[in-house]
Amino acid sequence: MTALLEVEDLRVAYGKIEAVKGISFKVDAGQVVTLIGTNGAGKTTTLRTLSGLLKPVGGQIKFDGKSLKKTPAHEIVSLGLAHSPEGRHIFPRMTIEDNLRLGAFLRSDKAGIEKDIQRAYELFPILGERRKQAAGTLSGGEQQMLAMGRALMSKPKLLMLDEPSMGLSPIMMQKIMATIAELKSQGTTILLVEQNAQAALSLADHGHVMEVGSIVLSGTGRDLLHDESVRKAYLGED
Ligand SMILES: Nc1ncnc2c1ncn2[C@@H]1O[C@H](COP(=O)(O)OP(=O)(O)O)[C@@H](O)[C@H]1O
Ligand SMILES: [Mg+2]
Repeated sequence: MTALLEVEDLRVAYGKIEAVKGISFKVDAGQVVTLIGTNGAGKTTTLRTLSGLLKPVGGQIKFDGKSLKKTPAHEIVSLGLAHSPEGRHIFPRMTIEDNLRLGAFLRSDKAGIEKDIQRAYELFPILGERRKQAAGTLSGGEQQMLAMGRALMSKPKLLMLDEPSMGLSPIMMQKIMATIAELKSQGTTILLVEQNAQAALSLADHGHVMEVGSIVLSGTGRDLLHDESVRKAYLGED
């Protein structure tokens, strides 16, 4: 099988400081792959580089058979790579529906866009019920749903989620994780960045543990979930 996303020896720096120090991993179509690791490990830097928001200093990124090295960010979205960013970044004064429409800004198939808005409301009924309200009135978890719904509006081949569970109550976190599982069962390919290792590894096909810019451990979600060093470092066991 050829991978949908192939990252090879990727290096990213902020000035002289290398935040991502030569990481390699791949995502096959239909898989959920997770990058886990504590604050500062380089997870967000990795996603921002895949989206074209940061330029790598070295390595290769191949998406759907094409090198992304010189591709501008908007073109990367058109190629089918969508990013739900850390901290959500929804537009609080715009309505929920207008926030969703923003995710489709590169599409011109009107009927398809309407259909996908309805699909987002099926996935997240609360967004449909409140479609005309300002997005800033939503709770943190609901804003996370909106950020995911907006990313899905570009009809991505690969959906990248940066810490969707951050700052959420356990119940809301479970809801978000259940939605990710539902998207997976519908065949959506997902690259999931999480600090919540337990939740991410439970639903991922493959996982990679990042520490200060490097991948230090890789395996199936199940293997990592049962790995002693992962349990000690990330699942609070001793
Ligand atoms: N805009 C920036 N300028 C300088 N350093 C940064 C910037 N953003 C992140 N970093 C540094 O890069 C490293 C990786 O950060 P980040 O990718 O945000 O990690 P994570 O998402 O895993 O918490 C950290 O040491 C962080 O301080
Ligand atoms: Mg981060």
